[in-house]
Amino acid sequence: MAANQSNRKNKILVLLFAAIVVGLALYFYASYFEFTLPTGKHRNWQKLPILVLASLLGYLTTRFLNAALFDFVFRLRKRYEAPTLVRNIFTLLAFAILFVLLFKGVYNDYDLGALFTTSALFGVIIGLALQDTLGNFFAGISLHADRPFQVGDVIVVTQQKLTGVVESITWRAIKVRTFQNHIVLVSNSLAAREAIEVAPRDNLNARLVFFSTIYTDSPAKTIHVVRESVRDADNVSDKITPIVRIRGLGDSSIEWEIKYWLDDYAKYNDTDALVRQRVWYALRRNGLTFAFPTRTLHLERNVPVRPITAEDQIADRLSAVDVFSPLSTDELRQLAKATAGHVFAPGETLIRAGDEGSSMFVVHNGRVAVQVSDPGGPRTVAQLTEGNFFGEMALFTGEPRTANVVAIEETEVLEIGHAAMKHLFQTNPSLAESISWTIAERQADLAKGSASAQPSIQETAGLLSSIKRFFGLH
Ligand code: CMP
Repeated sequence: MAANQSNRKNKILVLLFAAIVVGLALYFYASYFEFTLPTGKHRNWQKLPILVLASLLGYLTTRFLNAALFDFVFRLRKRYEAPTLVRNIFTLLAFAILFVLLFKGVYNDYDLGALFTTSALFGVIIGLALQDTLGNFFAGISLHADRPFQVGDVIVVTQQKLTGVVESITWRAIKVRTFQNHIVLVSNSLAAREAIEVAPRDNLNARLVFFSTIYTDSPAKTIHVVRESVRDADNVSDKITPIVRIRGLGDSSIEWEIKYWLDDYAKYNDTDALVRQRVWYALRRNGLTFAFPTRTLHLERNVPVRPITAEDQIADRLSAVDVFSPLSTDELRQLAKATAGHVFAPGETLIRAGDEGSSMFVVHNGRVAVQVSDPGGPRTVAQLTEGNFFGEMALFTGEPRTANVVAIEETEVLEIGHAAMKHLFQTNPSLAESISWTIAERQADLAKGSASAQPSIQETAGLLSSIKRFFGLH
């Protein structure tokens, strides 16, 4: 950086020195000229060195002005890097104006304008010869005026299938450094015609990375695990949390996409690779599995839907439910056989208030909220976790569901139907009693709008006899 700056200083000093030398030469020749020939008697060829020297001086001066203006004033003071094309146009215009003025001063009897305007043929020839060059030149000017991209941006020239970082924009072309470290020149006129995708350097650009898991892996767990593993990877921006979402349900896998934002987009190849690596380790650690094409043959047998977990585990869970404590091990196993397991995503509704219902549920894993509708929106009256049950009110009373039950996190429940309960009531008369207590308590909560309201003995007794009637027990 410092070396670059001193180079620029040297360049300016050399230009200044050369300008002084040429200026002196011009001065001496002009003085010699003045003294040796009487005014008005100069031949044209004798004036030529003056024009050449003055033009050279003019050229050096414009170069000097260019360097002073763009390298010092803009670059160092205003921190703005002028594009090469703008600098070149400046030099060319300044020099052309100076040259015309000098020519007029030296050969004041020639009309330079007439030379250009009368020479139509000259114009046609020049125009044809410079067709492409001029096309690129004007396209370059419009690129600079528009500024659709800048040095340092990543661009994709779609038709040419070219991706790389813009290194410079010149008279003729855009210089792009590809990710194989090759330089490709895209002519300005082509760039003006083509669709160009730009990922600006000072913008939060996103990428998509894909992977797939097997169908038995839980989506909620996959989202959590993958998001957490990706968000702190190098060059993944911490300004926006990565998004992990299901892209499709394929033949043999759940197809996922990760959308993440990069601090430095030019390094997206490395970051994509790092993200994929993180996903591999995260899935491995958490017992999730990448999918690969498989064909599953299901042989249909006439058996009920298999429960989601082994029967013994379910019996264990049911034994921890307080109202089932009077049941024997055998009865618990029978009940476990009769249950069906279901899994719900966070936010899913398990039970809707007002619906008919002929089964109850035990929370196997996860958490649900019991909600009632209030004028101000849904109000949560209780949260139930592993070992709690719900849905018993409609099952035992035959009334519609009294509340909504919504999964707070991924939740597995065990569903127990009417027939299984009726069987248990016949062998365990105390079961109906303890359930009627719970129902009465919950009804009182709902009525009073607060948790742990106490039901009266009469209410419970009334409930018990209506349960017995509903289940046809004597
Ligand atoms: P059911 O009416 O069938 O459907 C909604 C369920 O929410 C209800 O059965 C109860 O299991 C449950 N529920 C209602 N009120 C409460 C409460 N106050 N505390 C806990 N659970 C409740």
